Amino acid sequence: MGRLDERVAIVTGGARGIGAAVARALGAEGATVVVADILDAEGTALAAELDNRSRHLHLDVTDEHSWQKGLAETERELGPVSVLVNNAGVAGWGTMEEESLAQFRRVIDVNLQGPWLGMRTVAPSLRRAGGGVIVNISSLAGLTGYAGVGGYVASKWGLRGLTKTAALELAPDGIRVCSVHPGAIRTTMTAGFDDSFVSAQPLPRFGEPEEVARTVLFVVTEATFSTGSEFVLDGGVLAGAPTVLDADH
Ligand SMILES: NC(=O)c1ccc[n+]([C@@H]2O[C@H](COP(=O)([O-])OP(=O)(O)OC[C@H]3O[C@@H](n4cnc5c(N)ncnc54)[C@H](O)[C@@H]3O)[C@@H](O)[C@H]2O)c1
Repeated sequence: MGRLDERVAIVTGGARGIGAAVARALGAEGATVVVADILDAEGTALAAELDNRSRHLHLDVTDEHSWQKGLAETERELGPVSVLVNNAGVAGWGTMEEESLAQFRRVIDVNLQGPWLGMRTVAPSLRRAGGGVIVNISSLAGLTGYAGVGGYVASKWGLRGLTKTAALELAPDGIRVCSVHPGAIRTTMTAGFDDSFVSAQPLPRFGEPEEVARTVLFVVTEATFSTGSEFVLDGGVLAGAPTVLDADH
C-alpha cells in the first residue's frame, strides 16, 4: 500500500531533471502521475515507466488554454487532482544590463505566471478531490540575491510570495500550499557549472534531483501541519559565511 494510492498528481516540467525525480517518487507511493511538459518524447517515456494509468500531457505552463484543456482531459480520464507540483522552470543568464526584456519576460512567464495559472486552474479540481497539496519549486534564488540572474531571482521570490497568498486563500478548502527551495542541483539546468561552483558550500557538492524529490514527498505526505511554509535544501549556504571567528584575534 502506497501513501498516495488512488491519488492523481500533476508534475509540471516532469519529463526530466527534478520533475522526473518527483514524478518517480510520487509514483512509487502509488500516485497516478500526469507528467506535464513540452518535451513529449521524454515525458511519454517516463510515464510508460510509471504505473499504467500514469501519462504524459503536453502542457506549456505559460498558456492558460493549455492548462484548461490539460486539466479537463486529466479529470475525464483519471478523476480529480490531489497533488500539483509546479516544477517547470527556465534559467536566464545575464546582468540587469545584459538580460534582454524578452528573456526577462520569458523567465517570469514560465517560472511565475506558469505556477499562477496552474494553481488557479487546478484549485477547483483539488476541491473536488476533497482537498490536496500544491508544491511550488522555488529556489535558493527565492531566498537571497544572485548577481547575473535577475529575472530568475525575481521569478523565484515572486513564487515564494505567491505560495503564501495561495496558502491563505486555499486553506479553508483543505488545500495546503508550500514552496521548496533547492540550492545547486545536478540537472541540465546546471550542466554548465563545474564543482568549483559548489566547493565553498558547507556541504561542498551538488544536490541530486532525488534529494529534492524526497523533500517534495515529505511536504505532500508528512508535513500535514505546514502551509505557506518554505522547505530549504541548500547544502548549508544560508547558514552563513564560512568565516572562522577566533577569540585570539
Ligand atoms: N537545478 C537546480 O540547481 C535548481 C535549483 C533550484 C531550483 N530549481 C528549479 O527546479 C525546477 C526544475 O529544474 P531542473 O533543474 O530540473 O531543470 P531542467 O531544465 O532539467 O528541467 C526543467 C523542465 O521544465 C520543462 N519546461 C520548461 N519550460 C516549460 C513550459 N513552458 N511548460 C512546461 N514545461 C516546461 C522542461 O522541458 C524540463 O523538462 C525549475 O523550476 C528550476 O528553476 C533548479
